Amino acid sequence: MTAFRTVRGVALRLQLIVNDEQVGAAEGDTVAAALLASGRWTFRRDEAGAPRGPFCLMGVCQECLVEIDGTPNRRACLVPAVNGMRIYCG
Ligand code: FES
Repeated sequence: MTAFRTVRGVALRLQLIVNDEQVGAAEGDTVAAALLASGRWTFRRDEAGAPRGPFCLMGVCQECLVEIDGTPNRRACLVPAVNGMRIYCG
């Protein structure tokens, strides 16, 4: 039996690589949910270098853009987390 780390009773069965660090995620999480649950609030920087993070969580505002598996500008709130996914943000 494999033991998974749990957060508030939810097993983190997925492992993502975020900025070269391992981050646990629950099955059914979006990338945005996994990043927020791991304490990451800055997903990108604007032209002036100010931190930006998710706002609408439904694909409209585009404040949650991150690089996923080498593809830039993916809306993290719309992409389901997949085991082994490599994400760059902040
Ligand atoms: S949080 Fe608004 S598009 Fe993702």
